[in-house]
Amino acid sequence: MNTPIYDFLIRYTEQNPLRMHMPGHKGRGPGGVLDPAYALDITEIPGADSLFDAAGIIAESEANAAALYHTAGTFYSTAGSTLCIQAMLTLMGQENRRVLAVRNVHRAFLTACVLLGLEVEWIFPSYTGGILSGTVTPAQIAAALDASPAPACVYVTSPDYLGHCADIGAIAAVCRQHDAPLLVDNAHGAHLGLFTPSRHPIALGADLCCDSAHKLLPALTGCAYLHTARPRYAQRAKAAMSLFGSTSPSYLQLASLDLCNAYLAEHGAADLARVTASLSMLRQELADCWTFYPGEPLHLTLCAAASGMDGRELDKRLREEQIFCEYADRDFVVLLSSCCTTEEELSRLRDALRRIALYRGQPAQPEPFSLPVPEQVCSMRQAALGDYETLNVEDAEGRICAGIHVPCPPAIPIAVSGERISRECINIFRRYGIPTVNVVK
Ligand SMILES: Cc1ncc(COP(=O)(O)O)c(C=O)c1O
Repeated sequence: MNTPIYDFLIRYTEQNPLRMHMPGHKGRGPGGVLDPAYALDITEIPGADSLFDAAGIIAESEANAAALYHTAGTFYSTAGSTLCIQAMLTLMGQENRRVLAVRNVHRAFLTACVLLGLEVEWIFPSYTGGILSGTVTPAQIAAALDASPAPACVYVTSPDYLGHCADIGAIAAVCRQHDAPLLVDNAHGAHLGLFTPSRHPIALGADLCCDSAHKLLPALTGCAYLHTARPRYAQRAKAAMSLFGSTSPSYLQLASLDLCNAYLAEHGAADLARVTASLSMLRQELADCWTFYPGEPLHLTLCAAASGMDGRELDKRLREEQIFCEYADRDFVVLLSSCCTTEEELSRLRDALRRIALYRGQPAQPEPFSLPVPEQVCSMRQAALGDYETLNVEDAEGRICAGIHVPCPPAIPIAVSGERISRECINIFRRYGIPTVNVVK
């Protein structure tokens, strides 16, 4: 597969250009290992195309990505899935649709709703992984759509932070019956199209979805895709993205997405099959000491407490072995692989987990978890954009949540802007070690 953006950057630097244009570094770094990257970091000079009006090398590269993902349109973001979520919801706002969302959303969804002035009808999953993970049934989605007094869309996060996947195929069928677009936050699933058959949300029937290329593919941080299966959204996607995106997207990121196409076309499926097989072996080899949370293969999620060790202790012991996880709390530790994880890295991980297993104690049952249905006092937008004060969570009972303030990762909200903070909410804040909360003044 060709790499038009990367090739353009290489050709440009090879002609020893006199750079009388931005950026100010003029192709030279200040000294250090990053220096070679500066030469490739350009702006929209002739021939370089323009991200939100793409008609040249960027359009060509995006068409390559669309061919790989079998979409009606795939569009690059250099501002992560966050920008794609803003664009997906803009498209829904243009159709005056109500938003029905499964509650374990990332905060990027909430900030987009605040910016767009959208209100949300929540569908609560049955939680199996604290605030991070749970299951929603197609019947729940159907009931929410049946109850909706106006045209709606459905928003689902899958895979979730622990790697658990929703039944996108069945949910998509329900959405089709109700003429409701299905939007999937697939930030953690850019690799799912490499399986045979494809497990990618678009292949399973979603209308729109976002993938963070940077999370599980070999792409620079901030790289993401907005995909759609519908030509009507493909036509409007760029305009929707340009409402929020910078006019100075990074060409290093664009080149990284371009190179990622070639990688996916040539090696992606084979590498994913290799890593998936090795991870499956690793799970079997460690089954006598560690329990794993069910989910898509690249999320190696340990049920730490249920295996006899607090997840934060496991994280600490892993760090002593120079192994750094994606996320840890009392119950779970998420270890993320990718197509690029090597056999040597997995065997180092397996050996470390074996050694650390010797320190396990008594298995602890996961703390029971439920999120009480919150009382919505005012609109999300009003609460998030108004004046606020920061309180210790202990002092926040009865107050209204202002801007979302949750640590990232996992950035999954407990109380949402405009909701009254209850005693149960405070207990959940404490459980996740969140000391303060912003409340409406
Ligand atoms: C489920 C989910 N959705 C969206 C996002 C935002 O993605 P990005 O950081 O690519 O903007 C994240 C980031 O962690 C996420 O975990």
